[in-house]
Amino acid sequence: MKKMISGKVREVYDLEDGRLVIVTTDRISAFDVILPTPIPGKGSVLNRLSQFWFDKTADIVPNHTLPGEPPPPFDAPEYRGRAVAVKKLTMLPYEFIVRGYMFGSMWKEYQQTEGFRGYPLPRGLRQAERLPAPLLTPSTKSSEGHDVNIGMDELSQGLGAEQAARLEQACLQVYARCYDYALTKGVIIADTKMEFGLDETGALTLADELLTPDSSRFWNAESYTVGTSPKSYDKQFVRDWLIQNKLDGVTPPPEIPADIAQATADIYGECLARLTAEN
Ligand SMILES: Nc1ncnc2c1ncn2[C@@H]1O[C@H](COP(=O)(O)OP(=O)(O)OP(=O)(O)O)[C@@H](O)[C@H]1O
Ligand SMILES: [Mg+2]
Repeated sequence: MKKMISGKVREVYDLEDGRLVIVTTDRISAFDVILPTPIPGKGSVLNRLSQFWFDKTADIVPNHTLPGEPPPPFDAPEYRGRAVAVKKLTMLPYEFIVRGYMFGSMWKEYQQTEGFRGYPLPRGLRQAERLPAPLLTPSTKSSEGHDVNIGMDELSQGLGAEQAARLEQACLQVYARCYDYALTKGVIIADTKMEFGLDETGALTLADELLTPDSSRFWNAESYTVGTSPKSYDKQFVRDWLIQNKLDGVTPPPEIPADIAQATADIYGECLARLTAEN
């Protein structure tokens, strides 16, 4: 069996029978670099949360998950909760970002131009304000450097108008369902990134991770206020510590102190517990 991809967070193995095994590690990246300090339990949280959402949305769009436990050696204890067998897909070279709120790179551009890549947006929106309707704002997936935000026109040029429309519908439906659900748990899904591929029949299939703190901005609904930068369930602790110590973007990246790593692990755990709570 060969290792196909060693990503920032995942190790991907090819079972050479149309399946892959994805192992989600405890690695954490901040400011686009992997830190040397693992976050205990993070991989398992991401994997379990993705499975939870894949189950919840399988009737909207097919996803890459396969039933059953992963085959040996991935049944070993060290892989428990973090290894899954999935359908091997031909990935589309885009990231499918759905935004429900004015934030991040959209906010950056909107402040300058009152617009964003030609998407329909009213004037006068404030930071973290809810958009009139969620938008799919794809970006190109580049192996080097930063992903580039593109307009829906560019996505249509790349994939054809029909496929682009299908993707838009799938992304917005997945977002809407999970957004409504998360809100009942006190979590606002401000935005999220999805990845899609095509299976052997050419069917559009949702892949990678789904609605995790790594791929999404989750805000606490109770403390959310417009016009501020809401506290989010993710790497904020690690990012803040790096910034405070003037270590953001420094290479090689530094070790994170144990208390910061543990606090971050606790946030990931709390996020899973909150979102998957029975009531
Ligand atoms: N079903 C699938 N078939 C083929 N490739 C997949 C499938 N699911 C996920 N992948 C790919 O596996 C890799 C997962 O690794 P990981 O998330 O660590 O990568 P990364 O892309 O380097 O990080 P980032 O998420 O920050 O872009 C990605 O390249 C993703 O596109
Ligand atoms: Mg990834």
